[in-house]
Amino acid sequence: ITNNSNSGLLAGRRVMVTAGGTLERIDPVRYLTNDASGKMGIAIAQAARDMGADVTLVAGQVQTMIPDGVNVIRVESALDMLKAVQAHYEKTDIVVKAAAVADYRPKFRAEQKIKKTADSLVLELERNPDILAWLGEHKQHQVLVGFAAETHNVAEFAQGKLKRKNCDLIVANDVSRSDIGFGSDNNEVLIFDGQGLVESVSVRAKQDVAKRILEQAAKLLPEEVL
Ligand code: CTP
Ligand code: CA
Repeated sequence: ITNNSNSGLLAGRRVMVTAGGTLERIDPVRYLTNDASGKMGIAIAQAARDMGADVTLVAGQVQTMIPDGVNVIRVESALDMLKAVQAHYEKTDIVVKAAAVADYRPKFRAEQKIKKTADSLVLELERNPDILAWLGEHKQHQVLVGFAAETHNVAEFAQGKLKRKNCDLIVANDVSRSDIGFGSDNNEVLIFDGQGLVESVSVRAKQDVAKRILEQAAKLLPEEVL
């Protein structure tokens, strides 16, 4: 049984996961994106389903199969992802923000394919909204789990993000490591809360890392009112 909503740590709970990279269009055939396979987020969605949760997966660009038994919302840009997440936030118990959101998008999006007339071309970018920060600002009962992709000062930068974005937990990833990098089936993470390190998860399958993250998040859920 993979989706038994009557048993499991997250039975009766609603979990929203964002996964994959966002894609920011320049014109109808060109875009900006960033490295992300979506594997970590999808592993979390699958683990949450197996723990009995009702799962909504907001998926950007993903390079792996989306599991059965989860509600999937496909999005392209960061702005699309923000809208999808906002629409589902209120009725969600746990949000895990594993997506690699593009920090910037092209300021102007050409309706038609840009022709190569000029010798050089300047692409002007503007900041995307910070979806996780929006969730933190509007948090009510939800348990909010962010990710932090860092190449250095991992613990310090991750804890800074946790505080700035009002997360309950932050999962820190060292993206400078080639063995657990983008597209890998394994990961190694540090999980922090507002007080400091909660758990250090040594290198293992993303599926097992996903379970650890959800177990930590489940501890923070308010008691169910029956
Ligand atoms: N995030 C988001 N919206 C954005 C940018 C990031 O929701 N526009 C979320 C990511 O999904 C992740 C967390 O914020 O859960 C941290 O993302 P990261 O890229 O590590 O941090 P940034 O705040 O974007 O800072 P920087 O890239 O400058 O390190
Ligand atoms: Ca970023």
